[in-house]
Amino acid sequence: MKSPQLQRYSAGQRSNHWAVVTCFVLAGVSGFALFHPALFWLTNLLGGPQWTRILHPYIGIAMFILFLGMFLMFVGANVWRKEDSAWLGSASRLISEGNAAKMPAVGKYNGGQKLVFWVFTLCLIVLLATGLLFWQAWFAASVPIPLQRIAVLLHAIAAFVLVLGVIVHAYAAIWVKGTLGAMVRGTVSAAWAKHHHPLWYRDQVAGKK
Ligand code: HEM
Repeated sequence: MKSPQLQRYSAGQRSNHWAVVTCFVLAGVSGFALFHPALFWLTNLLGGPQWTRILHPYIGIAMFILFLGMFLMFVGANVWRKEDSAWLGSASRLISEGNAAKMPAVGKYNGGQKLVFWVFTLCLIVLLATGLLFWQAWFAASVPIPLQRIAVLLHAIAAFVLVLGVIVHAYAAIWVKGTLGAMVRGTVSAAWAKHHHPLWYRDQVAGKK
């Protein structure tokens, strides 16, 4: 018999998430194209070098604003709790044994998901703040060159960390069976919730938000 379904994300939250993913891919492609001559060919995907350079900062700003929407919706569920530290402490066992049932009980998100959420947040703030400093069309003329150079370096580091974070995030979403459906249909099975997020499951069954 099919396990009953629980609502995990609304249509608005899912649209917001996939709009951020679209911006991430476009900002990533244009960013890599500008990062190294070996990747310059990627400019062909965005209408040539001029368009790539014009569009990249605007796509980045769109991503930041859209992520801000997600941040405001999800920050409450990503506040760090003591069970998250316990979960993270046992994460290596989960990876080697693959048995989620032996993990400390967590709420809507586990320690790994929360860590990724805060890494995303930090990276997006650094990307926006540093990107503005060397945006030639608007602000760079009034920023000292040494400061622009530091900003370029931090921008590249934040982008690198964000890409690594997204790889971990997407891999986990695909690896943990039944998770992708949460962001596609908006629902998860009650069995999935009970197994991976028992405290969230308990609240859902009790009718709490
Ligand atoms: C192709 C890439 C991606 C896939 C397959 C994916 C998939 C998912 C899935 C399945 C969930 C639900 C997890 C759950 O409810 O337990 C989720 C949540 C989330 N995703 Fe993604 N995602 C991707 C890229 C991104 C990107 C680029 C960002 C932002 C930079 C992002 C930010 C988030 C956030 C903030 C959540 C809510 C979970 C939390 O707050 O910890 N995702 N994603």
